[in-house]
Amino acid sequence: MRSKAHFKSHPLHPILVAFPIAFFIGTLIFDALAFTTGDTAFALTGRHLNIAGIAGALLAAVPGLVDFIYTVPPKSSAKKRGAKHGILNVLVLGIFVFVLAYRQDLQQVDGIMLVAELAGVALLTVAGWMGGTLVHRNQIGVDIRYAGAGKWSEEYHEEKKEIKVALVTELLLNQMKLVHVKDKRIVIGKTERGFVAFDDHCTHRGGSLAGGSLICGTVQCPWHGSQFDCVTGGVKSGPAQESIKVYELEEREGALYLKLQVSG
Ligand code: FES
Repeated sequence: MRSKAHFKSHPLHPILVAFPIAFFIGTLIFDALAFTTGDTAFALTGRHLNIAGIAGALLAAVPGLVDFIYTVPPKSSAKKRGAKHGILNVLVLGIFVFVLAYRQDLQQVDGIMLVAELAGVALLTVAGWMGGTLVHRNQIGVDIRYAGAGKWSEEYHEEKKEIKVALVTELLLNQMKLVHVKDKRIVIGKTERGFVAFDDHCTHRGGSLAGGSLICGTVQCPWHGSQFDCVTGGVKSGPAQESIKVYELEEREGALYLKLQVSG
């Protein structure tokens, strides 16, 4: 799932988090040196790193929030993980803001600051672990390629009974495209059995099927490998147990039209 906050397809959040991680750990190291040696130069460096860490964390939070809202699939295990990751990082930020406020008039470092910083770095480590899982297992921010080096594409449409979702020449064999219609996420794919349309929501833990693999009319979820028949929506292999919803497509005058049941 390509990041919505990227530069030339490089997600910005993982790039920017390196700064607050380095600065907050640096704050702890220099303040520990100040505490053990009594040298105020170390405390001054710790203060500067503390300020830089807070600024870096605020900067990194912006693309992180954008990805949490727009990139992480809704109603999924990754959404819950992303929420915990964000809450932990807000706690870390709060701790280092407290330390900065506490140190204002102090030339030296005391035990309260060091304990708070240690707690902050410990929480930062757990948050970083979750962030790693979001990237490396949940594949948030991965710019995938489809068959024939086809690029990920995504479109937003108004909800209607019939929506033109692609040209027939747009998708190569086994390539998929993600279409958003109101709050629905629907994958359009080309298989040996024709064009298919199905929900972008794995019934196991909500993985994005558009980020998976489409082969011989079967789509495989990228998170735990569940496989679904793209024509019937049936489960071909678990851990998923429930079928995915499939939609009707009509091919007409070189274009694909998605048929939806619209209320009202
Ligand atoms: S989310 Fe687990 S297999 Fe799809």
